[in-house]
Amino acid sequence: MESSLSAIKDAKIREFISEEAIAKKVKEMGKQISEDYRGREPLHVVGALKGCFIFMADLIRHIEIPVEVDFLEVSSYGDSTESSGNVKIIKDLTQDIAGRHLLLAEDIIDTGLTINRLLDMLSAREPASIHIATLLIKEEKHKLRYPVTYKGFAIHDEFVVGYGMDYRGYYRNLPYIGILDLPGK
Ligand code: IMP
Ligand code: MG
Repeated sequence: MESSLSAIKDAKIREFISEEAIAKKVKEMGKQISEDYRGREPLHVVGALKGCFIFMADLIRHIEIPVEVDFLEVSSYGDSTESSGNVKIIKDLTQDIAGRHLLLAEDIIDTGLTINRLLDMLSAREPASIHIATLLIKEEKHKLRYPVTYKGFAIHDEFVVGYGMDYRGYYRNLPYIGILDLPGK
């Protein structure tokens, strides 16, 4: 704990996407999802913890059809800012998803390795449909094998924090999205 805290002591955050811009985008995404899924209720919104929790909480409040939520937890980064590709499922979903309309809510798609792994696993459980909603996507970088139906913002390859996203466990509580400048990086 202490070593993580000292590692961010001299880091600087530059605001990148404001609280207002995020709110506007998330609202639009929720409206679009409501329109697209009308007639296919309930929508089963699944999030990969921990990064998704703020985005998902805001998103579902703009979805106007009945929703259910479930979570799984994955780990891939450890303390690094680069994906290891070794995606581990730490906690699985609690509900059966067979025959359900699934929307996977992601905070950010970077390499795409996490979503590839998750969708391989979830599609094998035979849901009625699966779509991805991500707030951020690093378009030039990812190696995703699945289409992304709902995208908030496409960004360049920068390490971002805030609005649920962390560096070494910190900064999830920032209400905006910032770019982290680590001294010596
Ligand atoms: P991927 O497997 O490389 O696509 O990474 C996916 C996960 O890594 C995301 O769900 C985030 O939790 C985390 N992640 C990726 N890029 C960033 C970033 O720039 N800041 C904070 N977390 C990130
Ligand atoms: Mg993370």
